Amino acid sequence: MRVIVINGANLNMLGVRERNHYGDDTLEKINEQLKKMANASNLDIEFFQSNSEGEIVDKIHSCYNRVDYIILNAGAYTHYSIAIRDAILSVNIPTIEVHLSNVYKRESFRHKSVIEDIVIGKITGFGVNSYKMALYYIDELRKERE
Ligand code: DQA
Repeated sequence: MRVIVINGANLNMLGVRERNHYGDDTLEKINEQLKKMANASNLDIEFFQSNSEGEIVDKIHSCYNRVDYIILNAGAYTHYSIAIRDAILSVNIPTIEVHLSNVYKRESFRHKSVIEDIVIGKITGFGVNSYKMALYYIDELRKERE
């Protein structure tokens, strides 16, 4: 099973940016932890981060016929990017929406997600564990299929 973790705008600044919301870990550290988890479960995992909406759309397209699951933290794009929504629909790859912070405890513009109705589910508020829970779920599916 092949998984991609896609991070959007400003997530390259983790460890520096608003640590009260996002914690101290850098994206590199988070990805290392996910890589370890994936290796232990024999899941193929790759990582991508971009601040550019178009690059994220291109990356999602490149997953067509190649990737089984997408774990996506689109950052602020979550709240308004119809282009990213359309990209997920175009490739029709099951996607899990994740957020480090609990978006419902924050400004009301973060309560809206333009992808939440087309993803498998959404995990929000558990820091790095939001990503880990998403990967755990994919691993459970893998076990069921074996
Ligand atoms: C975020 C929440 C978004 O509202 C914000 O724009 C981000 C990060 C999160 O992981 O909590 O960039 O997706």
